[in-house]
Amino acid sequence: MQTVSDLTGLRSVLRAWRRNGERVAYVPTMGNLHAGHFALVRRAQECAPRVVVSVFVNPTQFGPGEDFGRYPRTLEQDQAGLAALQCDLLFAPTVDVMYPYGTSGTLSVHVPEITEVLEGACRPGHFDGVATVVAKLFSMVQPDFAVFGEKDWQQLQLVRRLARDLALALEVVGLPTVREPDGLALSSRNQFLDESQRARASQLYATLTWMHMTARAGHKPAAIERAAVARLQRYGFAPDYCAIRVADSLRPVTTEPLSRQIALVAARLGSTRLIDNLPFASA
Ligand code: PAF
Repeated sequence: MQTVSDLTGLRSVLRAWRRNGERVAYVPTMGNLHAGHFALVRRAQECAPRVVVSVFVNPTQFGPGEDFGRYPRTLEQDQAGLAALQCDLLFAPTVDVMYPYGTSGTLSVHVPEITEVLEGACRPGHFDGVATVVAKLFSMVQPDFAVFGEKDWQQLQLVRRLARDLALALEVVGLPTVREPDGLALSSRNQFLDESQRARASQLYATLTWMHMTARAGHKPAAIERAAVARLQRYGFAPDYCAIRVADSLRPVTTEPLSRQIALVAARLGSTRLIDNLPFASA
């Protein structure tokens, strides 16, 4: 596997592949790769003969006081994991390569509506940072396929919208969340949990399955959401939201059938903020 960190190196590898008519699948990441990321890489390998993974901890998607500084950076370990999977290319740019004109006062991409609720409401500016860096990465890699995890459901919907509205010639592929045996979704942030928090963290998934059960029993979304918040609080979480929404638009449910709905949660355990979701169509 090759590693490149600048645009000249990236473009020369991509040009050679294109000359051979090889299609490219792409997995953008912030590194600290785990089994969830490796599942994305394997899915990308099913999509196209060439796979690019990027590792870039994007400063513009972290708000002031968020965990940009402590976000785990493990490039050598990531490189080894990707090489073992026979990934073709690791693109690991610096901040200067991604933002040569600085991170403020530069072009910013805003995807309206879908970014204004849930994570967008809790983390102002987060999705503009995500949309901006993803648009730039797509422009640099020019992939035929881009693979994202469903764990960041709202991000996946944002990327689908970005690709649609910019008429990008790529297919966005979503992959179901990879979980620990007790249901906890894999996340780089799980390593910040202490032993007692880790034992309780599985309650996020348990709460999502409970939300499904009560919705199937005919309870109304607002009542389920209130009870789910109280349920998480009993386990020591500080919930930001427990929500049942229309899966693709993330609007409140009106007449949509359960098969088009999704349950989403975000909550803090100590200083670690975790998110998870469970589409009704998947269960
Ligand atoms: O999901 C992530 O890891 C990041 O938000 C992404 C898509 C790589 C953009 O920085």
